[in-house]
Amino acid sequence: MGSLHINGGKPLVGEVSIQGSKNGALPLLTATVLIQGKTVLHNCPGITDINAMAELLKSIGCIVTMDKNTITIDATHICDTHCPQKQVQAMRSSIMLLGPLLGRCKSVRMSRPGGCVIGARPTDIHEMALRQMNVRFEEEEDTIFAYTDSLIGADILLPFPSVGATENVIMAAVLAQGSTRLRNAAREPEIVLLCEFLRKAGARIRGIGGSELEIEGVKKLREVTMTVMPDRIVAGTYLLAAAATRGQVLLKHAPPHQMHSLIHLLRTMGAEVFADDDMIYIDAEEATGAVSYIKTGVYPGFPTDLQSMLLSVLAVAYGESVVEEAIFEDRFKVVEPLQRMGAQLSTEGRKVRISGVAKLRGAQLRACELRGGAALVIAALAADGESVIEGCHFIDRGYENIARDLRCLGADISRRDDVRIR
Ligand code: UD1
Repeated sequence: MGSLHINGGKPLVGEVSIQGSKNGALPLLTATVLIQGKTVLHNCPGITDINAMAELLKSIGCIVTMDKNTITIDATHICDTHCPQKQVQAMRSSIMLLGPLLGRCKSVRMSRPGGCVIGARPTDIHEMALRQMNVRFEEEEDTIFAYTDSLIGADILLPFPSVGATENVIMAAVLAQGSTRLRNAAREPEIVLLCEFLRKAGARIRGIGGSELEIEGVKKLREVTMTVMPDRIVAGTYLLAAAATRGQVLLKHAPPHQMHSLIHLLRTMGAEVFADDDMIYIDAEEATGAVSYIKTGVYPGFPTDLQSMLLSVLAVAYGESVVEEAIFEDRFKVVEPLQRMGAQLSTEGRKVRISGVAKLRGAQLRACELRGGAALVIAALAADGESVIEGCHFIDRGYENIARDLRCLGADISRRDDVRIR
């Protein structure tokens, strides 16, 4: 499982390259099921969620080969539409196979991905939208069984712009009969990437990047090669780590145009941030100001995936901050470990009130989910003394090698993997 050992308390200084996007690559991998042939995806991150999705694709008959950050998927022969429980439960985003398998094979059976530590994560919006496209769902205990005679385009209004539901509807609609209008769609950059990928493969999609999409079904998609964009959440992680330690960091291969809300926030805290095409430089020596109030939101709002990390930064800012979580109902798991490090935070429903302190102190910590784990790393970098973070496998779900990247920025961080004693 492994643990991270961090000696904190000094500014991060240096430069680092940003890996490919997890949330960009995962839906592209599921979308390859729609293509009866080979898809080549470059710049896929080397993370465990991607490996888990590759295993899931293999289990339904795809031939998947990985060569460094390039993944080739041959989905010519899909032999099974029953997604095995072990692979589905390894990762919430297996739900993203619903639309593609319905599009390709007209049926899918998978166990419910279930809730997770940040909230209940139901699939009602996915199901409601797909029902309108002539899909039937049968409940079998913890299994989703969905089938259709024929997917039919529909006029769908999402009650909330769910990222996953938007992606599932798009993937179901590209091979459906007739056209689909999707209103109140999510507008995350990862959805734009998915649409561009499908369009390259021959899909007809209008309104890309907006909250209203029109998809006209086509008979078949063609083979395609695509490069996954850089990961805006990983880039955000390292900017926030720079802010917490008052460092100076250059990010290469970053997507600044997708990160306006964070860059704006860091500037209001006092950081100097310079952004170009694909690089971001932050001088966070003066990034000491509290944030009187910020609420997470759907894109282009402040990303929920950076919320826990922001708490670590505000824990050492001057003054009082309030952070409200509007997307997931239970995403404050880092409050207790931060308190043990000396931070002053209190929760009131979906809000956290933070009174900045001058210093945090190192502690024995345990990651219990991906982004919360990254938040503990940031807190440990800012804290005096040594911290040990157990539960690295959660961090591995989304970061290729967080210790390697942070060492590029001068951090004193090492990873120790468990040694099995016979
Ligand atoms: C995606 C991202 C995740 C990010 C999230 C919000 C991927 C692989 N994951 O997750 O990193 O944190 O967007 O930006 O891209 N909801 C329902 N019913 C549904 C679907 C969602 O109530 O059927 C609720 C969820 O419980 C949650 C909110 O809607 O409270 C947002 O979920 P959604 O946008 O669907 O997130 P994901 O696609 O799961």
